[in-house]
Amino acid sequence: MLHKLGFKKQSKRQETIEERKQEAMKHPVPKHVAIIMDGNGRWAKKRALPRIAGHHEGMKVVRKITKLANSLKLEALTVYAFSTENWKRPKSEVDYLMKLPEEFLGTYLPELVEENVQVRMIGYRDTLPAHTQRAVDNAIQQTANNSGLVLNFALNYGSRAEIIDAVKQVLNDYKSGIIKEDELSEDSFSRYLMTGQLNDPDLLIRTSGEIRLSNFMLWQLAYTEFWFTEVLWPDFSEQHFMEAIEAYQKRSRRFGGV
Ligand code: FPP
Repeated sequence: MLHKLGFKKQSKRQETIEERKQEAMKHPVPKHVAIIMDGNGRWAKKRALPRIAGHHEGMKVVRKITKLANSLKLEALTVYAFSTENWKRPKSEVDYLMKLPEEFLGTYLPELVEENVQVRMIGYRDTLPAHTQRAVDNAIQQTANNSGLVLNFALNYGSRAEIIDAVKQVLNDYKSGIIKEDELSEDSFSRYLMTGQLNDPDLLIRTSGEIRLSNFMLWQLAYTEFWFTEVLWPDFSEQHFMEAIEAYQKRSRRFGGV
C-alpha cells in the first residue's frame, strides 16, 4: 500500500545488537580497540548544560561499550580519559574529571569484577590526586585475577612523554648491562612503554569529528586502522561501536606488505 502511494519501500529494519554481534563474531574481531572519547563539552553545550554534564554522560557510555567489548571477546579496550594536556582546563573541570574514576568504579566495579574484566591504567599515576590513585589502585587490585577484557584507562597519559621515559629507561638498562645494543628491537622497546605486554590496538575510534591523534599512543598506533565519526561521545551507542567493528572487518590489513 505504502508503495502504491509512492512512498519508498521501508528500508531493511536495523539489526539488533545481538544479531550484529553474532554476525561479527563469525569473523576476526579486533583484539584491542582504543578510543579517543571526544565531544563531551559540545554535547553539554548543545543542551545548555555545564561541560561536566557531558563528562558524566560520557562515563555511562564507557560502561556500555565495556560490556559490549567484553561480550565480543575483545582482549583490550583502551579509553583516553585524561591527557597530560588536560590539566590546562579550568580547575573545576579538572577536579570533576579527577573524581570520575571514583564515581565510575564506585558504581560499576562490582559488575566489572562479576563480568571478569581486568581494570588497568596507563599514564602518570603519581601526579594524580591521592583519591583518584586510590580508586584506580583498588580496582586494579580487585580485578587482577580476572581473565576477561582488559579495560585500560589512559589517565594523565601523554605519548611523547611516555616514549622519552622509555628511552631513558633503555639508557639506564644499557648502562647497567641489562640490555645490549643489538637486543634493542621494536619488540623489546615496546615493553618499555606503559602498555607493556598489551598488543598494539588494531582499531582506533575517535568521536566528535576531530581527525587527529592528540598525543595518544603514537608508537602503538603505527599499524592501527582508524575509524572516525561525527557522533559526540555521550551519544555514542552500541550500534556505533558495531559499525566501527564491521568497518574494521571489511578492511584488509597488509602491515606494509602487498
Ligand atoms: C574530551 O571531550 C573528553 C575528555 C577530556 C574526558 C573524557 C572522559 C570521559 C568520557 C568520562 C569517562 C571517564 C571515566 C573515568 C569512566 P571534550 O571535553 O574535549 O569535549 P569538547 O571537545 O566537545 O569540548
